[in-house]
Amino acid sequence: MAKSYDESLKRTHDCGRLRAADVGARVCLCGWVRSYRDHGGIIFIDLRDREGITQIVFDPSEDADRHELAGQLRNEWVISISGTVRPRGEDRINPKLPTGEIEVIVDDLVILNKSQTVPFEPDATENVSEEMRLRYRYVDLRRSEMTHNLRLRHRICRAMRSVLDERDFVEVETPFLTKSTPEGARDFLVPSRLQQACFYALPQSPQLFKQILMVSGLDKYYQIVRCFRDEDLRADRQPEFTQLDVEMSFVTEADVMDLTNAILGEICGVCEKPFPGDVPVLTYAEAMDRYGCDRPDMRFELFLRDVSEIVAGCPFKVFTGAISAGGIVKGLCVPGGAKFTRKEIDAFASFVGEYGAKGLAWCKVESGEFAGGVAKFLDTPIREKLLKTFSAGDGDILFFLADSTDTVNKSLAALRCRLGEELKLFGPDDFAWCWVTDFPLAEWNEDQQRWDSLHHPFTAPKPEDVEKLTSDPGSAKSRAYDVVLNGVELGGGSIRIHSPQIQKQIFSLLAISEEDAQGRFGFLLDALRFGAPPHGGIALGLDRVVMMMVGATSLRDVIAFPKTQRGFCPLTGAPAEVEDKQLAELDLKIIAPPQK
Ligand code: AMO
Repeated sequence: MAKSYDESLKRTHDCGRLRAADVGARVCLCGWVRSYRDHGGIIFIDLRDREGITQIVFDPSEDADRHELAGQLRNEWVISISGTVRPRGEDRINPKLPTGEIEVIVDDLVILNKSQTVPFEPDATENVSEEMRLRYRYVDLRRSEMTHNLRLRHRICRAMRSVLDERDFVEVETPFLTKSTPEGARDFLVPSRLQQACFYALPQSPQLFKQILMVSGLDKYYQIVRCFRDEDLRADRQPEFTQLDVEMSFVTEADVMDLTNAILGEICGVCEKPFPGDVPVLTYAEAMDRYGCDRPDMRFELFLRDVSEIVAGCPFKVFTGAISAGGIVKGLCVPGGAKFTRKEIDAFASFVGEYGAKGLAWCKVESGEFAGGVAKFLDTPIREKLLKTFSAGDGDILFFLADSTDTVNKSLAALRCRLGEELKLFGPDDFAWCWVTDFPLAEWNEDQQRWDSLHHPFTAPKPEDVEKLTSDPGSAKSRAYDVVLNGVELGGGSIRIHSPQIQKQIFSLLAISEEDAQGRFGFLLDALRFGAPPHGGIALGLDRVVMMMVGATSLRDVIAFPKTQRGFCPLTGAPAEVEDKQLAELDLKIIAPPQK
């Protein structure tokens, strides 16, 4: 007898579960029709749910009515079937499917829902635009990779929570409707109806609240929390993203880094990725020197070397000119790179041009001699020093860049990464973690002629550098740290300022007036005066962690409902215009409506 609708929902298994050992069992499965094949009257359907695919079979000799119903089925219809598990037979086994040894011969079919023709098949998205995938995200998320990514994300969150829970951390929610926070991006604003002409800012992070929780004595806080930043988007940036946000009292840098290592180790365990017992720690200065950036990709060496001193006396004006203008000459040696053609070298030169470099000098090492490019400017003593510095030998190429320190580092760092990728200097499964510490506290903003915090204004200076805040701010270091994986910054944090006096000094360095500071962060400054313990913390970018763990290249592949590069949600159509009535309630008026 046919099953009732309610009975048809009582699944015995999911679609990824049945194996040869289940042959003979009666089962009830629910799922989506993934594909439909009619082989001489026998209908084969791949039935899919989030766990996998099971082949189900309708045999016309069994029941003509049911067979006719089965004939109506189309892709993505939602059905329930009951039947008996049977072996597929030697020649029809599908070794690619965990359920590939069996099929279910159906004796009951309930159509739970029909589907219009889908805009694309979930399993065939190669030629589907990302906009389309996001517009019909519910179809896209039926793809097994996407289901896998979301489920791994869940397990990563669970791993984070379990480490923190074991160590007595308390998860506390903090407001979304709040005041501007100091992360340095543009705020998303929300107009208030009750307080006319006033706006909430969505938090760029819970930074100020978590510090206040430390003043309140909470001691160990965490939150898996959404943050909002109105900045230009890239593959690893979303306007709303999620952080694992942590703050602890009575700690040093080492305590926060140890805890973070424990969390990352647990996550890697869940994701079956390696995590080192000892994560390498580099200072900011070392990272800039060797890798040209503060998020070094440590999967391969190809170190940059400052050769300013070596080449200072050579007759090549590009080198000496850059040095006398206060810049540097840095280089890198590509083992085996002497085989690069002129065309390839020119392509590298135009590539570094995108980072501001005006050219790329080079020379090859062949039969113990320097050849080509700038070789003619380099005399024997210089050549010998260069060979030693780069441990260069026959068949290698040396690249040099001469410019301001900033341009040299940016350009060579990018070239280094490109070469690492093109020359396959690392494998697809290589994972190289590192910590970067001892960041400068502030950086000079040439456009605005002022100092900006490198991290945020609540980051503590190194105690021994406090007096440099007035005498030589550029050389003062902070107690900030970042954790980096394969050249991607996964998280950052710092020990905070808990002394109102030092906080005042920092604001004065950053040219934030007392009035301005009070207006923007007065509530935190007040709190610091009421018994603030020494404290520090960190935030890991959850989306980036998941992206790295699944090997995705975009955050959009690990977020259920992400925004496009233009900050648009193709599914909902957000952001959208609102009704005049809503604007009127908020006392707002659009003064320059967009052209329709
Ligand atoms: P920070 O601004 O360095 O620090 O952010 C911490 C981490 O958040 C991730 N992240 C992002 N992920 C996706 N899209 C974005 N737009 C984006 N911006 C940042 C990165 C980054 O390392 N309050 C401080 C933390 C602290 O001091 O405790 C903060 O937010 O992985």
